[in-house]
Amino acid sequence: MRVVAVISPKGGVGKTTVTANLAVSLARLGARITVVDLDPQNALRLHFGMAHDDPTGIGSRDLLNGQWQYALHESSYGVDFLPYGTVDERQREIFEHRIKSNPDWLLTHLNTLRLDDTDVVLIDTPPGPSMYLQQVLKVANIAVVVLKPDAASYSTVPSIESLIQHYTEGRKDFLGYCYLLNQMDASKQLCRDVFGMLRSNLGVKFVPFAIHRDEAVSEALACQTPVSYYAQHSSATQDVQYFTTWLQRNFGLVD
Ligand SMILES: Nc1ncnc2c1ncn2[C@@H]1O[C@H](COP(=O)(O)OP(=O)(O)OP(=O)(O)O)[C@@H](O)[C@H]1O
Ligand SMILES: [Mg+2]
Repeated sequence: MRVVAVISPKGGVGKTTVTANLAVSLARLGARITVVDLDPQNALRLHFGMAHDDPTGIGSRDLLNGQWQYALHESSYGVDFLPYGTVDERQREIFEHRIKSNPDWLLTHLNTLRLDDTDVVLIDTPPGPSMYLQQVLKVANIAVVVLKPDAASYSTVPSIESLIQHYTEGRKDFLGYCYLLNQMDASKQLCRDVFGMLRSNLGVKFVPFAIHRDEAVSEALACQTPVSYYAQHSSATQDVQYFTTWLQRNFGLVD
């Protein structure tokens, strides 16, 4: 199993969007893909057409003995996904207590899915430091840091950089990380400036192109469909495909 963590120092940059659409694009390369939503917002499922009133997920009170395979959903887009679940405050406290009290919580659960060496797991996370991020960074083989082309994203790079170092240091199975700019608007000077500064400061860790801001992305979400199914020829679809190829070339994710 290869685990890809999708993370960000700031909220609303597009982690969930990137996770869902990257998963669908990787599946087209022939890999078996499982997507895990580790964010209490429980929003990943919306990209895969899961019914709003379906409460199932890994945090759900009713999940049989906490076994993840009972929360696994098969999407119509070539990927399986594990939603976080609809969880009230009391249940979330219980769930998060379990996570905090077991440093290997995530690995233990991933192992129960009986994935093989060639399977790829993509994990969506909440923004910034959290117990979820800690668990993910301890098992991830690759981390994708999503940024927006604004000053705030730029200034938070050092904090996420030190978190990654802290949790992955010395792990031979950690292959590396990259920074991906999302919601790029090339008509805006500020976006172009941030792109240029990130590229010169981050060097090879910076993905040398961006995912453009594209209305098709929000329209696809409104239709609960991955963007490549909603608008095959949109710029976002193309950008995600480029990124998939880039990841494959740099990290050899899919055999
Ligand atoms: N490339 C894009 N073009 C246009 N809209 C986008 C793009 N990427 C994301 N969005 C929109 O930006 C909003 C935030 O995206 P998303 O929920 O994926 O961010 P997030 O980083 O997961 O947020 P959070 O930190 O709250 O989990 C959504 O409304 C989404 O549709
Ligand atoms: Mg999100």
